[in-house]
Amino acid sequence: MREKISTMEHSGYAIAIMAAGKGTRLKSKRPKVLHEIGGQALLRHVIAAAKHVVEPGHIYCIVGHEADRVKAAVAPTGVKFVMQEEQRGTGHALQMVKAYFAVSGDPLPKNLLVLSGDVPLIRPETIKEICSVHQAEQAAMTILTAVPANPTGYGRVMRKAAGSAEVTAIVEQKSLAPHQLDTPEINSGIYCFDTQELFARLDQLSTNNAHGEYYLTDVAAMMVADGLRVVAVQAQSVDEVLGANTIAEMMHLDAAMRLATARRLMAQGVTIFRPETCVIDAQVEVGSDTVIEPYVQLLGATKIGSESRVRSYAVIQDSVLGDGVTVRNGCILDRAEVASGAVLGPYAHLRPESRIGENAHIGNFVETKKVTVGKGSKANHLNYLGDAVIGAGVNIGAGAITCNYDGVLKHQTTIGDRVFIGSNATLIAPVAVADGGYVAAASCITDDVPADALAIGRGRQVVKPGWASRKRAELEAIKKGC
Ligand code: UD1
Ligand code: CA
Repeated sequence: MREKISTMEHSGYAIAIMAAGKGTRLKSKRPKVLHEIGGQALLRHVIAAAKHVVEPGHIYCIVGHEADRVKAAVAPTGVKFVMQEEQRGTGHALQMVKAYFAVSGDPLPKNLLVLSGDVPLIRPETIKEICSVHQAEQAAMTILTAVPANPTGYGRVMRKAAGSAEVTAIVEQKSLAPHQLDTPEINSGIYCFDTQELFARLDQLSTNNAHGEYYLTDVAAMMVADGLRVVAVQAQSVDEVLGANTIAEMMHLDAAMRLATARRLMAQGVTIFRPETCVIDAQVEVGSDTVIEPYVQLLGATKIGSESRVRSYAVIQDSVLGDGVTVRNGCILDRAEVASGAVLGPYAHLRPESRIGENAHIGNFVETKKVTVGKGSKANHLNYLGDAVIGAGVNIGAGAITCNYDGVLKHQTTIGDRVFIGSNATLIAPVAVADGGYVAAASCITDDVPADALAIGRGRQVVKPGWASRKRAELEAIKKGC
C-alpha cells in the first residue's frame, strides 16, 4: 500500500485529472482509464495518489468518453467531475476545467496540478515534489519528466541548456524535427501550473498540428515566449511516469505494480517465493512470517494473517484469513472467512459466505457455500456443504453432502456440536442433527436427528451364500447355448 502521508493544507492547490479520452490504441470497448492494473482501474490509482495530496473536493476529474461509466466507477472516491463532451485534446480538456470554475463558484486555486488518468503509478511523494520545485523555482509551469529506455511516442522536453532546469518547449513525437528525434527526456503528462497563467493562455491554443487537437503541451512555449519560467523536474523512477497506450504497455505497468506490491509485503516480513509468478492485487494485506508459494493469486480486498502458508495455484479473492492458516495447493476462495489454524485443501472450493472456524479442516475436493463451520470441525474429503450451520468438533465423512436445493428454494441444514456424519450421508434440507448426533454411513436423512441419537436411513444388507457362483454358471450356459 502507498505510504500514508499528510494531505497538503489547503494551500491553494487543486488537481485536475485528464480522463476523457477514448484510448483508441487499446482497441477495446472499455474506456482506457477503467482498464485495470494491480486489480484496480487506472483512474482509481491516480485518484488514490491525488487524495494523498489534496482533499477529494479539490480533485476535478475530466470525463467525456463513456462519462457515465467512468463516473460510476470512481464516484465513491468523492471527486468532482468536469464534462468534456467532445475530446479535442489535452488543451481542450483544461479549457473545460476553466469553464467549470467560471460557472461553479468553486474558488480558483493558486496552483493547478494536472495528472493523466493513464499514468497510474505516480506516487504522492512525487506530486508533492513537483509542488515544492514549482514554488522554489517560482515557475508558471513545472513539468514532470523522465528518461525511459525507449522515448518513442512520448512528447519530448527541450531544455534551455544541458543541466538547466528551464524548458523552452514540449514537442510531440509527430512534430519532432530531425535534430530533435534523439531527445531522450519525455513529458510525463503531469504538471503543476500557475492557474491564472494557464487559464490566460488556453484560448490561444490552436489545432494546427499532426493530430488536429488542442495540445496542452503548447502552453510551455507560449509561457516561455512571454518571459515566464517553465521548469522540468525528473522523476526518480521511470516506471512511475510510464503511460499505457496499448494493452501490452498496460500489462507492463501491471507487472511493475504487482512487483511493487510483492516488495511491499516482503518488506513487512512476508516470504514470497518467485514473486514474479504471483498475481497480487495492490490492496492485499499479508501478515509477517506468512509464506506465499509460486503461482498464487491474491486478489481484491484479501487479507491474510501471520504465519500462514498459501501453497501453489491457490486463487484467493476478497477473503479474510487468520493466523497460522494452511491453504494447500489449488484451493479457490471467493469472499470466504477462515479463522486461525484452519487447514484447507488441496483443491477446496470456498464460495461466498463460507465461514470456517478455528482449526477446522476443509479438505480435498470439498465445496462450501453460505456455511458456518465451527471450531475444530472436519470435512476432509469430497463434500458439498451449502446453506448450513455446523457446530464445533463435528466430523463429516467422505462424500457426505447437504441437499440444499429443491429446484426452486434453498433450505437450511443445522448440525450441532460433536456430531458425526458418516460417509456418503445425504442430508435433505431442511433438516437438523442435534448435538452429539450420529448419522450412519450412506444414510439418506430426511427427518431431524435428536441429540446423541443414531440415525440410520438405508436398506439392510442381505448376504446370499453361493449366489455368485451359481449366477456365473447360469450365464456361461446361456453363452454356450447361442
Ligand atoms: C500526452 C502528451 C505527451 C506526453 C504523454 C505522456 C499532449 C498533447 N501530449 O500524449 O506530451 O508525453 O501524454 O503520457 O498532451 N484526454 C482528455 N481529453 C482529451 C484528450 C485526452 O481527457 O481530449 C486525456 C486522456 O484520457 C489521457 C490523457 O488525457 O488520460 C492523455 O491523453 P493521450 O491522448 O493519451 O495523450 P498522449 O498521446 O499520451
Ligand atoms: Ca497517453
